[in-house]
Amino acid sequence: MKGIILTAGNGTRLAPLTLAISKPLLPVYDKPMIYYPLSTLMQAGIKDILIICSEKDLHKYKMLLGDGSALGINLSFEVQKVQRGIADAFIIGEKFIGDDSVCLILGDNLYNGNSLVKQLKNSAKLTKGAEIYGYHVADPERFGVAVLSGDKVVEVEEKPQNPKSDLAITGLYFFDHTVSEIAKNVKPSERGELEITSVINEYIKRKQIKLNEMDNDVVWMDVGTHKSILRASIYIDAVQQATSHYVGCIEEIAFKQGFIDKIGLENLIKKQSKSDYGKYLLRLIEREKKQKK
Ligand code: G1P
Repeated sequence: MKGIILTAGNGTRLAPLTLAISKPLLPVYDKPMIYYPLSTLMQAGIKDILIICSEKDLHKYKMLLGDGSALGINLSFEVQKVQRGIADAFIIGEKFIGDDSVCLILGDNLYNGNSLVKQLKNSAKLTKGAEIYGYHVADPERFGVAVLSGDKVVEVEEKPQNPKSDLAITGLYFFDHTVSEIAKNVKPSERGELEITSVINEYIKRKQIKLNEMDNDVVWMDVGTHKSILRASIYIDAVQQATSHYVGCIEEIAFKQGFIDKIGLENLIKKQSKSDYGKYLLRLIEREKKQKK
């Protein structure tokens, strides 16, 4: 299973914040937004990850994450020159995907919840068809929305004015390798985009779709507006305070997944040992040492 994070997008709705910095590099409380979707892929056990970004941001992502080797993962980068929609990720990423399956996550989607990690690990075994993730929301008209017949999804509608359910399809999708061919045959929508919902609908037509509803303990946020960034920041602070456990901490996840060892983790702390984030990682190492004794 390979992973793609789609970060390209002008973030025009967030200007002037996004005039110099792209949206997934903006802070959500104490870390760059992209740490959250990256950590979700890593929790699913995915190590080969393509980041699709705009040309102006490429060097910033490389500065932040390098080639991933310090985290025990393989990161590669592709530039999306023209924004043609989410499904374009599978055309840009065609070579990267090759004969493997792929998980696409949007760079502004934040997930947290233990039950989700279990579900993701299962989805990461997918070899045929597609799996999508649904979440009950109060404002489905803002999202791709499932049309249901019983508990089966029979269609997904993109931002419908009159949604037929309250089940939003979140920005986390698993597809088999045929997704690139499907994406190439997608016709642009009225808003001129290659919609992810068109790709999903093709899998529905082929009767190769599985809809996973996320459990109540899972938090999902589409962090695309000023208010949602603020809300997400407050949420992350509250959870981290209450549980003494960090959300979206890629170094910790790399360590716990066995992608890196203790020395690898120590190396990652060096540049950030003075921040609360770095101190959290230092505490992790101390705890490890005590447990070993
Ligand atoms: C996109 C997708 C939509 C999905 C949403 C999740 O919307 O088009 O189907 O529900 O992401 O965040 P947009 O990025 O246009 O808000």
